[in-house]
Amino acid sequence: MRKTIDQIRTQETPVVCLTSYTAPLTVQADQYCDLLLVGDSVSMVLYGEETTQSATMEMMIRHGKAVVKASKKAVIIVDMPYGSYESDPVIALQNAQKIMDETGCGGVKLEGGEQQAATIKFLTENDIPVMAHIGLLPQSVSEPSGYKVQGRDNDSAAQLIRDAKAVEEAGAFCVVIEAVPHDLASEITQMVTIPTIGIGASNNCNGQILVAEDMLGMSVGKPPKFVKQYENIAQAMATAIKDYADEVKTRQFPAQEHTYKAMTSDMMQDSLKKAS
Ligand code: KIV
Repeated sequence: MRKTIDQIRTQETPVVCLTSYTAPLTVQADQYCDLLLVGDSVSMVLYGEETTQSATMEMMIRHGKAVVKASKKAVIIVDMPYGSYESDPVIALQNAQKIMDETGCGGVKLEGGEQQAATIKFLTENDIPVMAHIGLLPQSVSEPSGYKVQGRDNDSAAQLIRDAKAVEEAGAFCVVIEAVPHDLASEITQMVTIPTIGIGASNNCNGQILVAEDMLGMSVGKPPKFVKQYENIAQAMATAIKDYADEVKTRQFPAQEHTYKAMTSDMMQDSLKKAS
């Protein structure tokens, strides 16, 4: 049985979340995660783009469909890409509805606090579950140097608190808090009643999320400081591919067990005759 948004909202144990964009990773992550996010980070992680601003509706829907199809248990949330919701709540609703209808996902995520509260309210009033995202907003970053910790001075900390309260009031079912000092993220977690999902935030948040490729050691560049690398899959891939290349070059691969049974010599003669 797939988890529900309500179960995430009221879960008392930490909410385990990861990003996932493809079927093979989803099959593994679905066994252990409460929520899988088809993040617009897909544009950087899988397509090698500089920022998440390159993600498109078509890209999010294609990956969203793959993840929904490969999963059975986790709630699947799909990111609304840059340009699909900021200008007008009505356009946001049309795009959110399209993502939900075409992927079968359980809800959408969008970036922004107070500024997006009216849109979040409009979506939730129209039965679209929304995961909010405050703190560092990758869609607002147009170059790599823009990835910075947020809420380090009084004014920006106060804004983050207002953002958290605004998205809660607007009806978001949970809120991602990205790259925010530990104590501020803890304070926000105490203040709101919806689950806070930390990424570079605090272990006092109600849940955690990471980009799966970062924690698996598959990222192309250097991952952020807040990532713990649980495996080195890139190293395992490199070793396996080198072994394959060596065996192809020395004709050890394919071995007999990787080929089909030989034809009899009569059959072969017959085929040669027929072909000529
Ligand atoms: O797009 C993404 O992967 C995200 C997570 C980092 C929260 O928004």
